[in-house]
Amino acid sequence: MEESLKKNKQLLLRKHNTTNIKKFFQIFSEEDFDLLNKYSDLFDLIIIGILNPNFPFNLRNEEILLKELEYYNLTNFEAVAEIGAGNGCFSLLMFFSNPNINLIVNEINISMYKYFKKRFKLLSSQFNLNNITSTFGTSKKTRIRKKVDKIIIRKSFHHFSKKLKMLNEIHKDLNTNGILFIQEYLKSPDNLNECSMLMSEEEILSSIPSHLFELKETKRLESKTIFKFIKI
Ligand SMILES: C[S@@+](CC[C@H](N)C(=O)[O-])C[C@H]1O[C@@H](n2cnc3c(N)ncnc32)[C@H](O)[C@@H]1O
Repeated sequence: MEESLKKNKQLLLRKHNTTNIKKFFQIFSEEDFDLLNKYSDLFDLIIIGILNPNFPFNLRNEEILLKELEYYNLTNFEAVAEIGAGNGCFSLLMFFSNPNINLIVNEINISMYKYFKKRFKLLSSQFNLNNITSTFGTSKKTRIRKKVDKIIIRKSFHHFSKKLKMLNEIHKDLNTNGILFIQEYLKSPDNLNECSMLMSEEEILSSIPSHLFELKETKRLESKTIFKFIKI
């Protein structure tokens, strides 16, 4: 077992010496930690719904994923940012779909942020990831320090606690005619399992100030909806 995993376990037990954590370690062995660590790329892709959770872990709904990537139309040398990138897996997929983009990966959760930074560092021994930078944001600030052509908020907008402040920041971050994509599962009986905080289409559209962004198109990809806005 890796030294850092051992330390994590000791730390967790010291911090939360509760029955639940003890039970967790009775079920979840050190070998399980090893396994998780070794196959974390695979788990990440399963967690974000890209791969099927059962062997042979083939792509889930490949057609929809490809259509989504195609819709963002990532072209050579443009600057693209994903806000609220979670484990960073979708950002990586975008990057590998066109390694000539300049990608900024943003998160406000420190664990997620550290996680994908570490992941990018490890991958950089195999791939040229020089065009990827990461920013640690806040609930009000993206901390993107340069202008970008496209901003993608994927399954994250409904989690923003300060939507208006974030939209003002995003407006400043975008170049003239910059594009904002918001991809969401809409609140509906079909999407109940996705997240309890999901918003309806009306709720999303009414939270986007019309003096900042103009809705250009609404794209439906099965249960996903992508709103495409142009910066005003
Ligand atoms: C469901 S995850 C989405 C992950 C990823 N975009 C994907 O498609 O798999 C939502 C993420 O949004 C992040 N988040 C919430 N509010 C945010 C904000 N104001 N700025 C940046 N990230 C935010 C959360 O920390 C969380 O990791």
